[in-house]
Amino acid sequence: MPHNLQLAITAFGGPETLKLQQTAMPEPQDGQVLIKVAFAGVNPVDAKTRAGLGWGAEKIKDMLPWVPGFDAAGVVVNDVGEYKAGDRVAGRIVEGGGYGQYLCADVSALSRIPDDVSFEAAVSLPVAGLTAWQALELAGLQAGETVLILAGAGGVGHIAIQLAKAKGANVYASCSTVNSAFVSALGATALDYTASELHEQVNNINVLIDLVGGDVGEAALTCVAKNGRVVTVPTITADRIIDAAKPLGIEAKGMLVVPKPEQLNALLSLVNDGAVRVEVAKTYPLEEGVQAHIDIQTGRTRGKLLLEMPE
Ligand SMILES: NC(=O)c1ccc[n+]([C@@H]2O[C@H](COP(=O)([O-])OP(=O)(O)OC[C@H]3O[C@@H](n4cnc5c(N)ncnc54)[C@H](OP(=O)(O)O)[C@@H]3O)[C@@H](O)[C@H]2O)c1
Repeated sequence: MPHNLQLAITAFGGPETLKLQQTAMPEPQDGQVLIKVAFAGVNPVDAKTRAGLGWGAEKIKDMLPWVPGFDAAGVVVNDVGEYKAGDRVAGRIVEGGGYGQYLCADVSALSRIPDDVSFEAAVSLPVAGLTAWQALELAGLQAGETVLILAGAGGVGHIAIQLAKAKGANVYASCSTVNSAFVSALGATALDYTASELHEQVNNINVLIDLVGGDVGEAALTCVAKNGRVVTVPTITADRIIDAAKPLGIEAKGMLVVPKPEQLNALLSLVNDGAVRVEVAKTYPLEEGVQAHIDIQTGRTRGKLLLEMPE
């Protein structure tokens, strides 16, 4: 009988609480596809949830052991509707489960991967790409406006830079010295936050996309023009940033990324056309997922971290 190796959060705590487990093959329900997962994305929310923090932990607290992984890319196992066995698909899996060899996903959450797009590039897009897309959309960024993206070198930031550039905006992105050349190559003016305060480097910004939150997000409000717009993406500090923005005459909003296959299709097309490029910093075998969590928690990732499933 085929087995299903997964990496599960067994208790809230440090990365070592992630443990491998063998389970039975999942059974697809009506409208679901069984996917043999090739790669999963590792996102900061996975580590926060494992640590018992935020909306993710609240949602799964009674479901442990629980398998994380909101990004998955792989191959369809069974024919369902428009999908045939062997089709390459990727999706934002709201129930999690990407950290495993097999998962069932709603047909409605999936996108086909174009032939020339790798699994690695495709699996980098559901959470990070959709977050970048939806943050810029929520901010209503227009051609000719200036946008400051905090954490331009990260999973979300490096895609947001490219999408903002494609919209015709004038893009600034904060990063440390080591990532300045990377961020510049994506089309942004890199602002090295270790060199001086951001508000000494840029101000009167129309739109701030805050991908750091907390003290850093709050300090960056001083770069924004009166009547400017802010989208603060880390949910844990969103209320704080929204409250701090109000007295400055700045409208700040929080967000939670939602699966939108039509947007994922558009992102996959942009990658296929070479208009957006995805940076994968490192791929770990599933069995080394603990190290992937140690690394994502440093907050120093350039682009994406991925897990590769065993055959
Ligand atoms: N609300 C939602 O639906 C949603 C969706 C996705 C992500 N998120 C949240 O959004 C945040 C970003 O996600 P992500 O996947 O892009 O994270 P990530 O890939 O882990 O971000 C890492 C990057 O952050 C940069 N960074 C760290 N501190 C910085 C600072 N003070 N100023 C500027 N850059 C800094 C690092 O660059 P340097 O090493 O150069 O500093 C690194 O490249 C996370 O908090 C995540 O949980 C929320």
